[in-house]
Amino acid sequence: VSEPADRGTRGVFVTGTGTEVGKTVVAAAIARTVANEGRSVAVFKPAVTGLDDFAADGPISADEARFSARRPDHHVLREAAGSAQRDEEVAPYRYGPPMSPHLAAALAGETIDPERLRDAARLAADGADFLVCEGVGGFLAPLSASPRYLVRDLAADLGLPLVVAASPGLGTINHTLLTIEAARAAGLDVAVVVLTPWPDDPGRIEESNRETIEALGEVRVETLPWLALDRPGSWPALPLPQLD
Ligand SMILES: Nc1ncnc2c1ncn2[C@@H]1O[C@H](COP(=O)(O)OP(=O)(O)OP(=O)(O)O)[C@@H](O)[C@H]1O
Ligand SMILES: [Mg+2]
Repeated sequence: VSEPADRGTRGVFVTGTGTEVGKTVVAAAIARTVANEGRSVAVFKPAVTGLDDFAADGPISADEARFSARRPDHHVLREAAGSAQRDEEVAPYRYGPPMSPHLAAALAGETIDPERLRDAARLAADGADFLVCEGVGGFLAPLSASPRYLVRDLAADLGLPLVVAASPGLGTINHTLLTIEAARAAGLDVAVVVLTPWPDDPGRIEESNRETIEALGEVRVETLPWLALDRPGSWPALPLPQLD
């Protein structure tokens, strides 16, 4: 794992082929893996939107009590890492409406400030041995549209190797290769692609997707099985190239 230019902290930046593809699950699994090795882990997410979806009171069904149904990303990440960071230290910008951060910020009369993000991420990194940063949406999602500051720009500024979360099924080769190409075009290192959730009994398509992404993307591909998301203690370690 490479190091941010001016710090000794190691870490990864978890991006994905889009929204709802498993970035939080992969980031949480990595955070847990590193924490279980006895290292302190900090987590970071530049912006969280859709908090309105979590605000509802009342009885929670068994289904809703699972992982993400009632818990925003920054809480899931923090728990997996065993971190004591405060909400604003994990996610400096938090909005209610479920939409792109640049739009949610605009509706709140704000713009997302790249410098504030960089400072907050470095502060989080300084407090731990390892930083797990989760992006927002896909790799070219805007944190700010004007001035233009994409998830990719933050990843470049932090200088962390990328982990790309992707679905195992149909359509994933194109999305994953596009993401890898966008990363390399900016000079970023793609450490690994993680296909999630990997089925217990993968079929021809899944196995082929794994091999094809590995070959055409010239990248390492790992898989993450279906996790009991409400029981982090039961998760298997997710091997990362640099952590082997
Ligand atoms: N390995 C897995 N085990 C269990 N559930 C999974 C796994 N991978 C993905 N999922 C499911 O897929 C859904 C999306 O995952 P996740 O929330 O991690 O996506 P995301 O890319 O972080 O989304 P967002 O763009 O909102 O941040 C979740 O509901 C999660 O339950
Ligand atoms: Mg997420």
